[in-house]
Amino acid sequence: MKSVVVQDLVVSYGEVEAVRGTSFSVGAGEVFGLLGPNGAGKTSVLRVLVALRRPQGGQAWVLGREVTADPRAVRRVIGYVPQALSADGSLTGRENAFLFARLYGLEPRRRRARIDEVLGLMGLGPAADALVQTYSGGMVRRLEIACALISSPRVLLLDEPTLGLDPGARRGVWEHLHRQRDESEMTILVTTHYMDEAQQHCDRVAVMSAGQVLAEDTPADLRARLRPDATLEDVFIALTGTGLGEDKGGMREVARTRRTARRLG
Ligand SMILES: Nc1ncnc2c1ncn2[C@@H]1O[C@H](COP(=O)(O)OP(=O)(O)OP(=O)(O)O)[C@@H](O)[C@H]1O
Ligand SMILES: [Mg+2]
Repeated sequence: MKSVVVQDLVVSYGEVEAVRGTSFSVGAGEVFGLLGPNGAGKTSVLRVLVALRRPQGGQAWVLGREVTADPRAVRRVIGYVPQALSADGSLTGRENAFLFARLYGLEPRRRRARIDEVLGLMGLGPAADALVQTYSGGMVRRLEIACALISSPRVLLLDEPTLGLDPGARRGVWEHLHRQRDESEMTILVTTHYMDEAQQHCDRVAVMSAGQVLAEDTPADLRARLRPDATLEDVFIALTGTGLGEDKGGMREVARTRRTARRLG
């Protein structure tokens, strides 16, 4: 069975049609990348999948359950790391994790062990009792992932998990995600701007632009179809007619937001 199926999805905000008939599917245990430039509609798709927004059209299933028909059942099996900052800098890592353990309704007697476990999984054991405002950007992101793992989700949805991080921190986030996936056979759906990351870390990807999926396949097959030496970024440019260079004000803006946010006041 597919872990996630999105079919003809439409999401509008007033006049703005952010998602315009998007379809793709994610196999069980896959690391799947939803790729696209600013405003492509990636976050809007994730909001539907985590039942935070009702679509104007189409349907979405997570582990066979239709999201709008059974949002509670879907929320019980997913973990979600939103694009915006979700960790509280004035608390320690352990205290942040404790809040999520309560939020997810973890039994009190299981909380302590599970919190130690997820913090350890994300390499935060030694920093567990430090205030999050002293963490690096990569550590903050790994804490947010740890919090999303507390309920042992079968599907983890991450919105731009590495945005604004330096290369070492990005690698750290991915190493921890892969380890977690290998141990638990969890399905991972991630959005990203970074084509190099998608090429290296995703089993399959969907390229999205202006609310529509233009292609869906393994990075290797997409590249081979364009030309033998093509990178995923070449594929992206060929499909969308646009690059993702640093000259894009929008992307720089988001990266800056994330950098500022990670200082946490
Ligand atoms: N709450 C909202 N109200 C109005 N318009 C919105 C809202 N959220 C998103 N949009 C618009 O919908 C479109 C798609 O936005 P979305 O955030 O889904 O894209 P994205 O691919 O996640 O972009 P980014 O890479 O910048 O995160 C954009 O034009 C955006 O301005
Ligand atoms: Mg987004």
